[in-house]
Amino acid sequence: MYDLAIRGGTAVLGDAVVRCDIGVSGGRIAAIAEHIDEARQVIRADGLLVMPGGVDTHCHIEEPLPEGGFQEESWESASRSAFAGGTTSVVCHTTQDKGGTLLERHRSNRERAAAGAMVDYGFHQIVADPSDAALAEIPALAADGIGSLKAFLTYDNVHLDDAAFLRVLQAAKRNGLMVHVHCENYDAINLAVSTLLANGCTAPKFHALSRPPVVEREATARAIALAELVGQPIHIFHVSCAEVAEEIARAQARGVAVKGETCPQYVTLTADDMDRPGFEGAKFMCSPPPRTAADHAGVWSMIRRGVLDMITSDHCAFSFEGTRGKAKNGRDAAFDVIPNGVPGLAARLPVVFSEGVSKGRIDLPTFVKLVAENPARIAGLYPRKGVIAVGSDADLVLWDAERPVTLTNALMQHAVDYTPYEGLEVVGWPAATIRRGEVVMQADVVLARPGTGQWLPRGPGAR
Ligand code: URP
Ligand code: ZN
Ligand code: ZN
Ligand code: ZN
Repeated sequence: MYDLAIRGGTAVLGDAVVRCDIGVSGGRIAAIAEHIDEARQVIRADGLLVMPGGVDTHCHIEEPLPEGGFQEESWESASRSAFAGGTTSVVCHTTQDKGGTLLERHRSNRERAAAGAMVDYGFHQIVADPSDAALAEIPALAADGIGSLKAFLTYDNVHLDDAAFLRVLQAAKRNGLMVHVHCENYDAINLAVSTLLANGCTAPKFHALSRPPVVEREATARAIALAELVGQPIHIFHVSCAEVAEEIARAQARGVAVKGETCPQYVTLTADDMDRPGFEGAKFMCSPPPRTAADHAGVWSMIRRGVLDMITSDHCAFSFEGTRGKAKNGRDAAFDVIPNGVPGLAARLPVVFSEGVSKGRIDLPTFVKLVAENPARIAGLYPRKGVIAVGSDADLVLWDAERPVTLTNALMQHAVDYTPYEGLEVVGWPAATIRRGEVVMQADVVLARPGTGQWLPRGPGAR
């Protein structure tokens, strides 16, 4: 007798797409068979796809803000948004202040997440200041299940120069951790920003001009070279275009352990969106910036080549209005003081499914690898997460592949007041989300309670 049977669906099992039933016991997948008849609870999935719940290994949730306080997107609201879009696990960030240490912030971050989260969660440790004292805390973090460090090569409060980045790479190597990197050249951006501002170019659209592809390409090539030198695997966050992915491909060809992710914004939004009337363009500002329609095609081709093997949201939500929002410095604020980031937790699976599978750019198994299996692998969560297999957590999304939906902010169920995908027509939408055998979203209604998400201790992931 199983706790739950999901009957009549078509499951994506690795490279196979199979009509089968799935039996769940104790929150885990206990059987995959043609018919499972003995179960206390039955969910019919006729006409639906059954896929692993989404694994989003690049999110920003309830992070502290430079001006004090926390991001609007709380663990509770982010969890709602995740479930609304078919995602069941996230990996977010613990930040380090310059001069600050790591463990105390890690503990308080874990407490905040434990109180509010409904999704299962882990953290990347951002290292903003690799002092001896900070690096000495990394073994304790690793022992507590922090599987990765995150390095920023830009942004005033966190950026690392080459010497500091090398220290982070060496520390990761000593502790067997992955390193994720935000690659943009800090000094080149500062030069471009000051030149633009000196010429009166302050509107949101100039954000894209201040961070052209070459700025991202240079930093990516440099990060790879330094990682190669140290012999430390790295993962490049949010690759925006093929020109950058080409640096990853070249390194992979010479045997360097480097992987890359991209995000839905880089196959849907463009720099022209930041040129919308008034201050609207601020809604589309993230770093690296969205590029061009031709770059969308380039990113898809790098996905099909396997150079970019995962799509995360980089969910980093700021409302448009309000004291923490995009317009917090006024509607005529210069682009360099507008918070960077776009929300995308709920939109990720629908946008990638629609643009990818529904439009014939990728097949279903590739979709599942991009949004669940490969993120789980690199985060050290596989095979607990990211796959439908006996013994894995019963994290599932039941998916209506035919359903047309016009995206609205309300459907995102996040805390902020807009989505950059407002009005986008997608085909394919989650009918239900199941987390560890419990239905946590059905027909767009989230059913879980805050504090039910589980901490995901992570080991070294795939290289
Ligand atoms: O603009 C972005 N991407 N904001 C989030 C922080 C980051 O760089 O990942
Ligand atoms: Zn049956
Ligand atoms: Zn980043
Ligand atoms: Zn990010």
